[in-house]
Amino acid sequence: MVKSLGVVNPLPTVTVFSPAKINLWLAVTGRRADGYHDLVSVVAPLEFGDQLIAGVQGNGRRAKDQFTLECDDPEVPVDGSNLVLKAAAAFVGATGWKAAVAFRLTKRIPLGAGFGGGSSNGAAALRALNQLSGAGLDRATLTALAAQVGSDCPLFLPGGPVVMRGRGEQVEPLPAAAAARLRGRRVLLFKPNFSVRTAWAYERLAAGAPAGYLPVAEAERRLAAWIAGEAGAGELLFNNLEPVVFRKFIALPALLERLRTRFGLAPRMSGSGSACFALLPDGAPVEEITGSIREAWGPWCFVQSTAIA
Ligand code: C5P
Repeated sequence: MVKSLGVVNPLPTVTVFSPAKINLWLAVTGRRADGYHDLVSVVAPLEFGDQLIAGVQGNGRRAKDQFTLECDDPEVPVDGSNLVLKAAAAFVGATGWKAAVAFRLTKRIPLGAGFGGGSSNGAAALRALNQLSGAGLDRATLTALAAQVGSDCPLFLPGGPVVMRGRGEQVEPLPAAAAARLRGRRVLLFKPNFSVRTAWAYERLAAGAPAGYLPVAEAERRLAAWIAGEAGAGELLFNNLEPVVFRKFIALPALLERLRTRFGLAPRMSGSGSACFALLPDGAPVEEITGSIREAWGPWCFVQSTAIA
């Protein structure tokens, strides 16, 4: 929503929620000529996430840069490498909008996780600027801009569970009946205190090709069967990046196995990791599960209970 701050010289500001995501289903189907990989993925935004505030700056406060970014987390780069500023540059490239804007990011999604935090922030910046400027870019144009910012940016624009294809630039909302089987499902997110570089994970998969890829026809057949059926979220879970990542980062499969045997959960890695998640059945002992995760990965590791938005 666009609000005005100040009485004398009201300057518009918008606040947008920037959700984390999980890949409930991630099939990497092959390598493309441009070096990226083709995917078929079901991705769901979560109720847990960051907050981005974008405020137009008056002429008197105009800085040398058109866009500035502050973040409460000192680990987050606030230079041009941040996807908020990349998205802002892409927006100006498309619209020619001239106003100066200060962004303030409140960060809760862990970095380098596979929860899509940076990509979500980039998509949030596009939505914020589209509102602030009144440019009214349509979804297709915003999606094309988001794809320039990062492969995982477009998936955040529809605001619900999506099917993502190509390298991430083809996004469509999951059909309503299938989305209803996901929405509101409780999820536990957890991440060890190390990250997995996305490019590394894809390179490892490509090095073992074609064994690690799921052929696209098979991926589409399995996904269509889940969409047309009545099975719940638990029947969808799949990620063929797991084997390559698990081979090196053995703390991941060791804990997931423990959660399977102790609590009957079906935990998964999200994206290229190191983030993991587990759907929580009703009455799941969240505190005990959290204790088990912290016992394995250390008391400071990230654990967060949330739900599919
Ligand atoms: O586009 P983004 O910067 O998020 O991707 C990070 C890296 O992950 C890429 O440089 C590429 O190596 C790999 N990647 C890929 N196929 C995708 C998405 C990412 O190979 N669909």
